[in-house]
Amino acid sequence: MAGVTVRAALGALLFVTLSGPAYAASGVHGGGSTADGAALYARYCALCHGADREGHAADHAPSLRAPELFESASPPYLWYAVAYGRPGTPMAAYAKEQGGPLSHDDQHALLDWLVAEAGVARRELSDAPVRGDPRRGQQVYAQHCASCHGGTGEGVTAPALANPVLLATASDAFLRDTIARGRTGTPMPGFRAVLDDADLDAVTAFLRSRAGGWAAPAPVVVDPPDPSRAVQNSSAAPAILPLREGRFVAAADVAAALAAQRRIVLLDARPLSDWQRSHLPGALPVPYYDGIERILPHLPDDDTPIVVYCACPHAASGKVVDALRAAGREQAYVLDEGSLVWAARGYPIAVGGAR
Ligand code: HEC
Ligand code: HEC
Repeated sequence: MAGVTVRAALGALLFVTLSGPAYAASGVHGGGSTADGAALYARYCALCHGADREGHAADHAPSLRAPELFESASPPYLWYAVAYGRPGTPMAAYAKEQGGPLSHDDQHALLDWLVAEAGVARRELSDAPVRGDPRRGQQVYAQHCASCHGGTGEGVTAPALANPVLLATASDAFLRDTIARGRTGTPMPGFRAVLDDADLDAVTAFLRSRAGGWAAPAPVVVDPPDPSRAVQNSSAAPAILPLREGRFVAAADVAAALAAQRRIVLLDARPLSDWQRSHLPGALPVPYYDGIERILPHLPDDDTPIVVYCACPHAASGKVVDALRAAGREQAYVLDEGSLVWAARGYPIAVGGAR
């Protein structure tokens, strides 16, 4: 039950501090924003959530057009997903104060546009905790949910339901409503016909029981490093990396090349906020939405492999590799497993602004 208290307290805080009274009262995101929500979406979000917000363009990113989402999600829920992301998943923090590209004005415009495009009215859900038997819920989860959401809530082909940001910002009623109704146009089925009320309560209580507590991180903005130092171990022999399909290199081979201090370039295609949190040693940030102009003059045009990665593991890195190859850097490759698997395997990472 501790999770409920944390969430309720955080929810109250969000409405007052971040959103402001007018925002909380009206239940909409905007108020005079001049930014173009559609253009922001195309530049920053379409890569994974799809050109038409249909979801699953990459990384099993959820639909941003399902009516149920916009009917039952509170404005702070959506705001927090975009501002702080879902740590440990490909969904990055997009708020400027976290190192992302979006100002508050941009976030208002983007969310207003998404809500307007969805074209549904929001239903006010109860803020009361859902009471159910979490042990029963665990059985329901194992039987009906784990195949997509993962045995420990890590997400397999569906969102990570044990994610601390999700559980800190989603109300019990929102979780239960999502489980009961599903999400139209996505693989998430509605369980109203399959599970009775007690089972819906139980699985909701089980999800809640995994909440670990979460507080918004302090603002952190680090100056990106000097791109002229792109090449690592510049006087050593080049890393030799076996290729899959002429495009992908394996994490084990890159880790071995780093340990042997081979010549290599590592580029991080995720938003700068992700790079700030942690990155592969010596990697330079080249966010997928920024283009390669700034970095290109500093990249070698010889046998030095250029390895690009993201969390995804292929969408953002693939976009940067395509741009590099179009600019004549044929030796640009995608890190096959991506940065989440890299970190999970215990290969070295650098934390904060350090390269
Ligand atoms: C066939 C795969 C599948 C099964 C089975 C499934 N889900 Fe989902 N679920 C998804 C997908 C995919 C999404 C994201 C929606 C989208 O694609 O836009 C989702 C979304 C959700 C969400 C919203 C989370 C968020 O961040 O948006 C909740 C909560 C949820 N599911 C709970 C459950 C529970 C509880 C069960 C079992 C009773 C379950 N799901 C079974 C695929 C599944
Ligand atoms: C690199 C791929 C990627 C990009 C780019 C991306 N997202 Fe996501 N997004 C995801 C994934 C994956 C999730 C689900 C994470 C999880 O919970 O496991 C997600 C979740 C979300 C959610 C929560 C939805 C729900 O059902 O609860 C919102 C809202 C969202 N993203 C909005 C955005 C917006 C707006 C942008 C652009 C500024 C964006 N995303 C860019 C991959 C991405």
